[in-house]
Amino acid sequence: MIGFGAFVLCRGMLFSWITLNTSRVMHDRLLARILHSTMDFFQRTPLARLVNAFGPNLAIVDDLLPDSMLNILQFVPLLLGALALIMINNYWTVIPCVAVWILVIPFTKFTNPSIAVLGQQEALAQPHALSHVTASVQGVSTIKAFTCESQFVDTFEGRMNRLHNFTSALYHVQLWLALQLDSIASILVFIVGILCVIYAQSIVTASLMGLIMSNAMQLIVFVKWVNRDVAETRARVPAVLTSEYYATQPPIEANFIVTERTPPSDWPQTGQISFDKAVLHYNKEGLPVLKDVTLNIRGGEKIGIVGRTGAGKSTLLNSLLRMYELSEGTIVVDGINIAETGLHQLRDKIGVIPQGMIRFVISCQILLTNVH
Ligand SMILES: Nc1ncnc2c1ncn2[C@@H]1O[C@H](COP(=O)(O)OP(=O)(O)OP(=O)(O)O)[C@@H](O)[C@H]1O
Ligand SMILES: [Mg+2]
Repeated sequence: MIGFGAFVLCRGMLFSWITLNTSRVMHDRLLARILHSTMDFFQRTPLARLVNAFGPNLAIVDDLLPDSMLNILQFVPLLLGALALIMINNYWTVIPCVAVWILVIPFTKFTNPSIAVLGQQEALAQPHALSHVTASVQGVSTIKAFTCESQFVDTFEGRMNRLHNFTSALYHVQLWLALQLDSIASILVFIVGILCVIYAQSIVTASLMGLIMSNAMQLIVFVKWVNRDVAETRARVPAVLTSEYYATQPPIEANFIVTERTPPSDWPQTGQISFDKAVLHYNKEGLPVLKDVTLNIRGGEKIGIVGRTGAGKSTLLNSLLRMYELSEGTIVVDGINIAETGLHQLRDKIGVIPQGMIRFVISCQILLTNVH
């Protein structure tokens, strides 16, 4: 008894350690990739998708999948054990046991693809609905100004309906499969019972019959749980794959530190900035926003750049911070081509007060000199 308790405790601890470690690694990889992603990626990706990748999808890895896997590891041996016990004690039951389990194959073959597809569609529909909420909140003043509230409410309802369609269909497919498997398990119990009665005198004693029947009855429970957890795992895998996608696929920025080209600690000494035929595209397919910009700002010079809205003033600053990389040309600051330095090494040396109205309640000097 003590040995069994110790074994269960060790198994639980080992399993928890493995699953916690896996979800921690997955979270860290996802966070590192997203934090290193390019600005372009953030513009193309709705925020709700990222929230989904970090929230509900990781909750599945943290919580739901370990539970399902532990149940599968627990119930599959019990199920096989119960079947083996029934067949060993009355070998005539081998035929119905094998025959009935062959019946299971078409049912699972029929439902497994549906569960996978519905799980995938549900994982896609969730951020689709969420992103509409975040976009609507961001543009609420515009929506109100054009009195388009009902249009946005309708779109939201449409997307929520679509999401619930998948959730409900998934639930009902799982329920349908559970019902079929329960029926098959019940048929097996019935046949085993009949065979026990037929061979009551010759092979099966009364006590053995009790043992066989109690195990046969347990089959119904084991089948239900194994099926539920396998179906749950199958349905949730696409959501996990979405997080995995964001942990591996987003394009990432250049290296933060380039040790072999570390600028001197007092760089930039004077602040001389030279643009040489700089070309910058926000989108690979789009037109360039900076076109062959060549200018030279001497060290210590105070410069104001003037232009109508959309002329490219902020873009000039973005290119200096390498928020977007130049497609052609170079930017040299005090003799160092900024494309060759690490991003942290560059951005650490440049102070910016952005155009947006968000500002920390600290002095301009601290903001500019990046003391904190
Ligand atoms: N992230 C972006 N993706 C695609 N195009 C952009 C992006 N940011 C700016 N643009 C486009 O690049 C051009 C230059 O924009 P930019 O913001 O640099 O202008 P600006 O001179 O700073 O304008 P403003 O005076 O309004 O601040 C504009 O046509 C703008 O639509
Ligand atoms: Mg601007």
